[in-house]
Amino acid sequence: MKKIVLGSVILLAILLFAVYNLVNQMPSKDLSLNEQVYEILTDSKCLMCHSYDAELPFYSKIPLVRRPLYQDINAALKEENLKPVMDSMAVGSPISITAVNKIEQIAIKNNMPPAKFYLVHWGTQLTDEKRQIIIDWAKEQRLKGYLANLSDTTLANKLASEPVFPILYDIPVDSAKVDLGFKLYHDTRLSVDNTVSCASCHGLETGGVDNKQYSEGVNGQLGGVNAPTVYNAVYNFVQFWDGRAANLAAQAAGPPLNPVEMASTSFDEIIAKLDKDAKFKAEFKKVYPEGFSEATITDAIQEFEKTLITKNSPFDRYMLGDETAMTPQQIAGYEKFKEYSCATCHSGVNFGGNTYELMGTRSNYFTARGTEMTLEDFGRYKETKSEYDRHKFKVPGLRNIALTAPYYHDGTLTSLKNAIIYMGEYQLNTNIPQQDVEDIEAFLNALTGEVPETAKVSK
Ligand code: HEC
Ligand code: HEC
Ligand code: HEC
Repeated sequence: MKKIVLGSVILLAILLFAVYNLVNQMPSKDLSLNEQVYEILTDSKCLMCHSYDAELPFYSKIPLVRRPLYQDINAALKEENLKPVMDSMAVGSPISITAVNKIEQIAIKNNMPPAKFYLVHWGTQLTDEKRQIIIDWAKEQRLKGYLANLSDTTLANKLASEPVFPILYDIPVDSAKVDLGFKLYHDTRLSVDNTVSCASCHGLETGGVDNKQYSEGVNGQLGGVNAPTVYNAVYNFVQFWDGRAANLAAQAAGPPLNPVEMASTSFDEIIAKLDKDAKFKAEFKKVYPEGFSEATITDAIQEFEKTLITKNSPFDRYMLGDETAMTPQQIAGYEKFKEYSCATCHSGVNFGGNTYELMGTRSNYFTARGTEMTLEDFGRYKETKSEYDRHKFKVPGLRNIALTAPYYHDGTLTSLKNAIIYMGEYQLNTNIPQQDVEDIEAFLNALTGEVPETAKVSK
């Protein structure tokens, strides 16, 4: 009798094992890593929750199931819409480092798809083998992306496992244009009453910001959103909190005509003033034979801003091999920064600037803030009018963050500690313990780099 029971148990175990393996099909090793991961994510049905137009299973019509399923989908979409990411993967085009980091992170943490899902949808669980393929793929993505031009292959391999990068390369520039850009950046003639220059709000000796909640334009007028830094802005995939400028030149065309910033009525008005300056005009024509125009002025400013990268921070030196560059507390803080998933959104070389993310993925920041909603709070929504973009912002880079208080788009936080604590609360649903907050703050202090020569007034 015992033997029969034992026999049946063993048989059942073998059967279950066989079924488990049958449903947990591994992708063929002949496929590229990218194709394998695409297949893994497809088999795991990630898009059933992480897509705006998911094909839902038949049971989603059952009233009792419908509610929790839609709650899941809502929560999942706050974190990530994987549809465009997977569409890019399907054709082998590059995806953002944020998407790479997020997919790698769920493989490391082994938390997706949720257990209640894979227990019902057999074959969707990420097995250890599948998770390893994802981790290898993330490494490959970084090697093909930012690290592609690094000749030191040992270093490249080491950095490929990291979600954030040191600054490795200078950006090639035309130095004559950089000089003109520097001058225009400091030129108050861009403003209607010759009182305000770019540097008024983005001081190059003060971390590239004005350290005010809202910036002051001509006649002391206040804007409605905190000024981000110009340092390392060149790394951002778009400019402004809401991404309304595609690049730095397009961005630079904004402030001169913005009524609460420099308030000029047109570029013609600015050009008329500059044209009267014979010396500057001649100097400018040597580089831009067509003379002053919106296009040439913003091009020169953009060229100058390409040089505003802050190298040699303790973090950069540490990552490039100087193990004493960061203190033990900063090193511990870096590990925690990664463990708490900060580096999923604050990713890549600028610790951000690669995607739009929702402010308040886990709880509503705006109701908790308690002050009236402003136009700027809508973020990306202002541009697209898509409900999905409400309260989404271009993730701010964190380099030189110790210098750029106050924090957040609304400039409401003067303390970096609180900015970290609130991120835990609103983005991660975590009460970060005090010691960890202090370690992360120490680490963020290690992101202060050197002011480049081109930015120094007394050069
Ligand atoms: C049943 C719906 C569902 C499926 C299927 C699902 N997710 Fe999620 N996902 C969620 C929810 C809900 C969240 C929000 C956080 C939470 O509740 O844990 C989330 C959060 C995430 C996040 C944000 C970071 C994090 O760890 O919280 C990522 C990235 C993610 N999912 C990726 C994936 C990938 C990749 C797959 C497929 C392998 C997948 N998800 C499958 C529901 C789902
Ligand atoms: C009156 C203050 C003020 C002046 C003058 C000003 N800015 Fe700004 N700048 C801001 C504010 C505020 C923002 C954020 C606006 C937004 O995101 O909607 C900003 C955003 C930017 C950004 C985007 C950074 C990012 O991370 O998105 C860059 C780059 C920038 N400014 C450069 C310049 C340049 C170049 C000039 C001169 C042509 C200039 N600014 C003039 C206040 C100012
Ligand atoms: C889901 C994406 C996401 C995650 C995860 C995340 N952040 Fe953020 N972070 C943002 C966004 C979006 C903002 C801009 C919020 C705003 O302006 O209202 C931001 C702002 C910040 C700021 C203020 C930057 C500035 O210039 O004002 C700091 C500091 C910061 N985050 C640190 C962290 C730390 C530390 C963690 C981990 C504990 C973390 N973040 C996790 C998306 C994220």
